[in-house]
Amino acid sequence: MQNNFKRILVTSALPYANGHIHLGHLAGCYVPSDIYTRYQRLQQREVLHICGSDEHGVAITISAEKEKTTPQAIVDKYHKANKESFKKFGIKFDNYSRTSLPIHHETSKEFFLDLLSKGYLKEKEEEQFYDADAKMFLPDRYVEGTCPNCGNDKARGDQCDNCGKYYDQLELKNPKSLITGKTPIVKKTKHWFFTLGKFQKKLEEYTESHSKDWKDNTLQQTRSWLKEGLQDRAVTRDLSWGIPVPIEGVEGKVLYVWFDAVLGYISSTKEWAIQQGKPEKWKEYWCDTSTRYIAFLGKDNIVFHTIVFPAELMAKGGYILPDNVPANEFLNLEGGKFSKSRNNAIYLKDILERYPADTFRYTLATNLPETKDSDFYWKDFQAKNNNELADIYGNFINRTITFVAKNFENKVPKRGKMNDLDREVLVYVQTAPQRIAVFIEQFKFRDATMEMMNVARAANKYFNDSEPWKSFKTNPEQCGTTLNICLNIVRSLAVLFSPVVPFSSDKVFKMLNQNSIVDNEQWMNAGEPQLLDGHQLGQSEILFTKIEDTTIEQELSTLGINAEAKKENESVVSNYAPVKPQITYDDFAKVDLRIAKIIEAEAVPKSKKLIRLQIDLGFEKRQIVAGIAEKLSPEQLIGKTIIVVANLAPAKLMGVESQGMLLATAADGANFALLTSSTNVDSGVGIK
Ligand code: MF3
Ligand code: ZN
Repeated sequence: MQNNFKRILVTSALPYANGHIHLGHLAGCYVPSDIYTRYQRLQQREVLHICGSDEHGVAITISAEKEKTTPQAIVDKYHKANKESFKKFGIKFDNYSRTSLPIHHETSKEFFLDLLSKGYLKEKEEEQFYDADAKMFLPDRYVEGTCPNCGNDKARGDQCDNCGKYYDQLELKNPKSLITGKTPIVKKTKHWFFTLGKFQKKLEEYTESHSKDWKDNTLQQTRSWLKEGLQDRAVTRDLSWGIPVPIEGVEGKVLYVWFDAVLGYISSTKEWAIQQGKPEKWKEYWCDTSTRYIAFLGKDNIVFHTIVFPAELMAKGGYILPDNVPANEFLNLEGGKFSKSRNNAIYLKDILERYPADTFRYTLATNLPETKDSDFYWKDFQAKNNNELADIYGNFINRTITFVAKNFENKVPKRGKMNDLDREVLVYVQTAPQRIAVFIEQFKFRDATMEMMNVARAANKYFNDSEPWKSFKTNPEQCGTTLNICLNIVRSLAVLFSPVVPFSSDKVFKMLNQNSIVDNEQWMNAGEPQLLDGHQLGQSEILFTKIEDTTIEQELSTLGINAEAKKENESVVSNYAPVKPQITYDDFAKVDLRIAKIIEAEAVPKSKKLIRLQIDLGFEKRQIVAGIAEKLSPEQLIGKTIIVVANLAPAKLMGVESQGMLLATAADGANFALLTSSTNVDSGVGIK
């Protein structure tokens, strides 16, 4: 353990403010960083957790174009939403800033000008893709093409999502402008280049000085960049959204988002210091070598934190460097990739409406992609909640507290003479903080979380083996001792579990009628029995409720719809879906197609795709559910004369019954069409 530091600075990668936080983000960065900081606070260490929105860059301007609004409106919307979601999820930041704030612009300009004056920024003319129709240079993400490394034909301008390779824009094969779809021309433009090569040696030394404590993925990616030899990198872009290049006469150019984003950690700390009324205090965290700096992030951000950012800090001088960069791999979803663009994602804001934060915090913590990609499965989520949180941890707390409420007037019974079982379990619990601490200090949060659950397992076993329901009659004093120990373990568990499931731990402390955990508890004492004999307990409540199969099926069915949509998109790419195997007329005649009128339409709550329709078939009225909410609004549907399959077996979609199916083209965009009748045919008429 590193105790020779006075304080710890923790940063979590600043998420782009152009989309909602999803499970992938949480598993990659924020769950680990939050567990780590909460644990460090319980260790009474001075720790600061810094984050904020990354509000510049092409990702934002592209989103603005897609949503037909301004970049400012985009970042305002997502900054607010993400800040709120993090808070509800219990991710506790000391400050959640934004890179569009003046304090950040000032900090970035100061770095740029300082590096310029020291000769670390060189002005150069560079060839770049230019869209002659749109009359603009194309920053990385405005171009798509074939990856020079792996051949993926959806590679971005500077990076391939398939193989992870970064390259120079001009290396991209078959480039296409994402604005006009045309092949761009190559044209010269002036930019400022950061002379990364000047830091090659220092960065090598820095990296190798961490060869024992950095994770494999962090070391490997960093070493492989260093091995290729560091080249000058452009740190400006032809763009209007961002921090204007602070040089007189330069127009239409801004700082490259990665140059300024990492500096966002510093400006967020400055903002925090001002809020504390101690505007100079940020320096303790950034400029004092007695501070240990840990940068949490996902694997796609590694080199920016082990090479680019450290080089910026070295160039400026007087700053500390990250001491560790615990990067996680990716979290996949039901065996597929998380993908915002393909709608294959689970968003934090949505799950917060449906489940307690702790259930997700725990499930993710036990399944973090720490050494390799991991998968989120809804069934696994259910199992972890039901079989672990509810059946082990929750059950131990519940059986202990109800037993005491019923048999000991809801007061802590006296601890009398102890037997071997008592002593054994106490030692096990007393040593648990140390065991868990070792894992957390090594950024092994999965192991730490599993060790927490092991303590709960041991506690249940102790309860069973001690058989208090028997001793209550035969040896009440022994029974009191057992329950005294159980209550103390409940207390210990609440503290030990609190970095992972803080909301539940707070509830347990209320049930025990104890002061709050934060501010009062010490990690290393968490295993000690601390409840006084006779202490009056509070009211008990159920900690975790079981999740039903039907709930999970609903979740899976929404993802199923996503998978459908994915297939549809793919078939559009290859233009036409293959023709299905031949059928006879009799096969076709089995399908009963009818004319129907839509009389009511409304969105299915919590579903992006589903609309619930009431239709009139002439001879009867029915409800059908259709996955077209992204294409047509309820208002556009009411009154339409449509064609439905009238003899389709009923099915449930997100729990809503559908008694039939409407016909529409299986395509997106301009090729999407609802099949309607142009003349006013009576409802119920058949179609052949
Ligand atoms: N916004 C970037 C991303 O989501 C991460 C930026 S980390 C920072 O990939 F340090 F640069 F802010
Ligand atoms: Zn590739």
